[in-house]
Amino acid sequence: MPGSGLILAIESSCDETAAAVVERGARTLSSVVASQIATHARYGGVVPELASREHLRAIVPVVRAALAQANITLADLDAVAVTSGPGLAGALLVGITYAKALAFANHLPLIAVNHLEGHIHAVLLNERSLPDGQSTPDNDPALALVVSGGHTHLYLASPANGTWHYTLIGRTLDDAAGEAYDKVAKLLGLGYPGGPWIDALAQHGNPHAVLFAFSQIKPKVHLLGQPPRTKAAKTAPIANLDPHFLFSFSGIKTAVLRYVELHNLRPEAESRRETLFTGPNAPAKPTIEDALATCDPQTLDLIASFQHAVVGDLLKKTFAAAESLSVPRILVTGGVAANRELRSRFTAEAARHHVTVSFPTLALSTDNAAMIAAAAWPRFLAHDFAQPDLSADPSLA
Ligand code: KG4
Ligand code: ZN
Repeated sequence: MPGSGLILAIESSCDETAAAVVERGARTLSSVVASQIATHARYGGVVPELASREHLRAIVPVVRAALAQANITLADLDAVAVTSGPGLAGALLVGITYAKALAFANHLPLIAVNHLEGHIHAVLLNERSLPDGQSTPDNDPALALVVSGGHTHLYLASPANGTWHYTLIGRTLDDAAGEAYDKVAKLLGLGYPGGPWIDALAQHGNPHAVLFAFSQIKPKVHLLGQPPRTKAAKTAPIANLDPHFLFSFSGIKTAVLRYVELHNLRPEAESRRETLFTGPNAPAKPTIEDALATCDPQTLDLIASFQHAVVGDLLKKTFAAAESLSVPRILVTGGVAANRELRSRFTAEAARHHVTVSFPTLALSTDNAAMIAAAAWPRFLAHDFAQPDLSADPSLA
């Protein structure tokens, strides 16, 4: 029955086609995610054309499944929400076009949601669903670290008049942390996405075996303050940011590459790829145990050391920003927030600093539509609806 605060959200910004029904931005009635991992795995990354094609294939069944699991029909909805950016243009357009058609045909308002805001609301959605007394009230500002395959961004999220406002505090100057995980995994002959493989294999290595120099994860601050050259839109906002809160992960990726070449680990990585994925006897669904059997201690140490350096850098800058802004609450979200070492080190550091740190559930860490419905709820209350000419904005700020 309309009026009960039911929002159907659609997310198709990258390689997951997702739909969810959430009540009043707090109670998830369904959350369906069709992953395209199998399609992209052999390429070691997302192929945009294939992603659009897979979204087209999946969007109708995924939306139907979300409605069926929520035990509702389109007539019960109050609004349709959709990710409008940032992301892959063709992929975003599939979700936007379908959401627009659904909204138009069913006389429902359409709400455009920024994917990054969605990731932040994944944590808030999780907190809202906790029993009274265990959740942090929604009226406190928070420092949000959005750390995924496409982003490593720090925002100050402040609630005001029922909606949220975001101030960019820091971001990566080059690769996102998840991108570094994916590239290092590819280099070592592991699967795509790389994060879960590295996360699991790192438990078996010595995180202090390979020391990555600080300069390998230090952003090129000499670029700050220079007049924007080619990528004006990208460079300009950085000039206003504190260099202490900028990230850079392309250096560590190159350092891993150098280590692999110096220690002649390439042939081993190639044969691992064959054993696990491309060879005639490769298992249909390789497991972590299969991967572990192909790794010698030196490779496991490299993996553990890489992860230790990346997590250490995220930790140091996030807590420095929280301290500098005097914010006692940190939210960590996005695919990399699923990482075990990240969760345990952030939790321990938060206790030392007397601040709270929250993560989404594992299912809400990676891309999903429940987070989009949660972010849409304050916009629904504020009647902040999208225009009929809504289009994809791949580089939405
Ligand atoms: O949020 P997400 O699903 O999609 C983007 O918006 O990018 O994040 C995907 C990223 C990938 O780079 C993947 O390798 C990384 O999150 N990831 C992880 C883990 N699970 C996923 N990184 C580290 N540890 C994990 N357990
Ligand atoms: Zn994402």
